[in-house]
Order: sequence, then structure tokens, then C-alpha cells
Amino acid sequence: MNKYRDFDNYLKEMPDENGYFGEYGGAFLDPELVPAFKEITSSYQAICHSAQFINELRRIRKEFQGRPTPVYHCERLSALFGNCQIYLKREDLNHTGAHKLNHCMGEGLLAKYMGKKKVIAETGAGQHGVALATAAAYFGLECDIYMGEVDIAKQHPNVIRMKMLGANVVPVTHGLKTLKEAVDAAFDAYKKEYHDAIYCIGSCLGPHPFPMMVRDFQSVIGIEAREQFMEMTGNMPDAVCACVGGGSNSLGMFTPFLADPVDIYGVEPLGKGGNVGDHAATMKFGTKGKLHGFESYLLQDENGEPLPVYSIASGLDYPGVGPEHAYLKDANRVHYDAVTDEEAMEAFFLLSRYEGIIPAIESSHAVAYAIKYAKEKKSGSILACLSGRGDKDIDYVYEKYGCGESFDLDKYKK
Ligand SMILES: Cc1ncc(COP(=O)(O)O)c(C=O)c1O
Repeated sequence: MNKYRDFDNYLKEMPDENGYFGEYGGAFLDPELVPAFKEITSSYQAICHSAQFINELRRIRKEFQGRPTPVYHCERLSALFGNCQIYLKREDLNHTGAHKLNHCMGEGLLAKYMGKKKVIAETGAGQHGVALATAAAYFGLECDIYMGEVDIAKQHPNVIRMKMLGANVVPVTHGLKTLKEAVDAAFDAYKKEYHDAIYCIGSCLGPHPFPMMVRDFQSVIGIEAREQFMEMTGNMPDAVCACVGGGSNSLGMFTPFLADPVDIYGVEPLGKGGNVGDHAATMKFGTKGKLHGFESYLLQDENGEPLPVYSIASGLDYPGVGPEHAYLKDANRVHYDAVTDEEAMEAFFLLSRYEGIIPAIESSHAVAYAIKYAKEKKSGSILACLSGRGDKDIDYVYEKYGCGESFDLDKYKK
């Protein structure tokens, strides 16, 4: 059977009413939180079919976020590797500099509809935190953002931005002090405040309905990109790719292409290599398990405890992955690969030097994969999601790599 045809009715079937994508997903909650999540689900189901909500979100996307973001043809970068053409969906040009605002404005609108006074979230790279703080300022809501101390030091500009936007940044000091611990802390806070607050999860993760809801809000990326690419070239791309942390920019990009004859690649962080603690490549090395209220692939020990993870990209540094990705991997519809810190950083400097675009380190993983694809295929086209801009990363990158002197950026020139 045509491997693409199975996906014609996909959005009607996935997830099921209990939030399952095949055997992954669900909602494993403390009993006290069950009614709160049911309320979120029923409120979302009500508003996502309401013309008023859809029109308001459309207006916000156009007038406040600056959508649609463009698709850009990287002619100089492509020319380095032969005849395969690399294109980027420019989510770095979305207001606040990354894709995260796409779901935050939707979640903020939902919070308003539900009569909540506060939004709570975790953040890794700070992009979700900045986006939610922005949505909170826009909608007049209080905002608490939980962030690991390691990430606070690494992503300093985003910490300042969140504070300027009026958010309360709560440092998380236990464990590895990165994204997983920030999610733990945000969940604990939500348990105490769910009457007045809503937990706005920052990716296609967590208990139902968040994986579905965040995917739906993010699908604007792929809907726009598909139409723009067709308009520019008259064809579908041969492949699309995106980096995978929890999975929101990637599912936003992939979903509208699932029923098309297009190869789809999710790119995870291989960090310093394949040893435990050196990477966060959940699809490559993980097994089925439970974390933060949902079932998916997980990097875990023999007792089901999450293993330590690492990536140079704070936003990819998570031991789990959204349940829909687990389903799409098993269904063999999306292929998952991983690139190292060094490959991502070379892509960071190449895109900066050859196209005048400084990417987020997270997004550099997708660019690195597009380069790998272009080198291998030598023809055709690949459309990568440039999920965010690199301004938040420049202090850290400069300290570690200078302005890229250790990379031979001219070696691909003919
Ligand atoms: C710019 C950027 N891209 C990608 C990600 C990864 O998240 P996701 O997999 O949910 O898109 C993050 C997370 O913070 C990010 O800031």
C-alpha cells in the first residue's frame, strides 16, 4: 500500500478520545488533577470549533505575531554541497524569535476563555518562557516560569526578557537543574494552583490534551510552508526536516505533509556521542516508558527512572519525546536521525556566514541535517524548519567557540 495514503484521515483519528496515538500518550495524573485536565480538554474542544476563537487567533497571528513567516531559499548555502536545494521555514521571524509563540497565544486565549488569572510553565532555552510571558502581557495574565539554574546561566538574555515582560522566573535548583527538573517543579506548582491557573506546557508533551492541542496550534507552520513552497517551486519538497526536543516545531511542520509523497525527518541531539549522559537522542536510544503524565519513548534506566541527558541546545535537553512522535516512528512515517553538537555548531556558523541568518542552536540541528541530506542526495530539495533565531545563544557560543574560527567554513567552497 502507498505509505502516504494511510494518513488521509489522520487528524480525525489521532489522538483518540483518551489522548492516545496508538499505544502512546494518555493522561497519567494525580487524582486531584483529573478534573482540571478534563476542564482543559472540554474547553479546548469547545473553542477550537468556534468561529469567534478561530477568527481571533487568525487576527492575532497576522497583526501581533507577523504571520505568515516566509519560506526562504538558501541559494548560497545549497551551492556549497551540489545541486540539492535547501529551503527554510523562517519561524525565527515569528514575534519573539521562535515558533513557541504559536501555541502560547492559543493557550493564552484558552486561559482567558476559562477565566484563569495565571499561566504557569517550564522553560529550557527560555523561548517558551519568553513566548508565554509575551502572551501573558498581551492577555493581562500573571505568569510564573520555572527554569533550571543551569539554563538560567546559559540563556541569560531570555531570562531578562521574561522579567521585562512582567513574568516571575522561578529558579529550579534540584537534580541536573535543566529542563526535566523545570517540568517537575512547574507540575508541583500547578497542583497547588489549578483553580486559578492553567499549566501551559511548552511542547507536544505531557498529559492529554496538551500533545494534541500544542500540535494543532503549531500546525500553522506546516500549513503555511506547504502552500508557500508550492507557490515558489510548483512542487512539493522531496523532504522536510525539523529538530525534535519535545516535538512542537517538528509536529507543526510535519502534520500538514503526512499525507503527501514527502520524506520526513526528525532530528535529535546526539550531543557529545552515544554514551549515557552525553546526548538526548530519545528516539535512537530510548524505550517505551512514562514521564510527566504521558507514555512515550524515554531514556530510562532499568527501574524506569529518567537517565541524565545532555545537549548543547537547552531546548532539546529532555529525556522524553512527545507521544505522537513515538507513534510516527513506529508507523515508519517519520524517520529519526541525530546530529552531534559539533555538526550543529558547524551548521550554526555556515548559515550565519553564507546566508546572513544566525540560527538558534536548537534549529541548527535541523540545518545540520539539511546539509547532511544535501551532501548525500546531490539533487532535489529539502525544507527545514528554522524554529528560532540565535540571539539568545550568542554570548554562550562566543565564549565557547569565538566567532567560529575553529571551524573551516571555507572547506566546502569549490
Ligand atoms: C528555537 C527552539 N527550537 C526548538 C526547540 C525544541 O522544542 P520543540 O521540540 O518543542 O519544538 C526549542 C525549545 O526550547 C527552541 O527554543
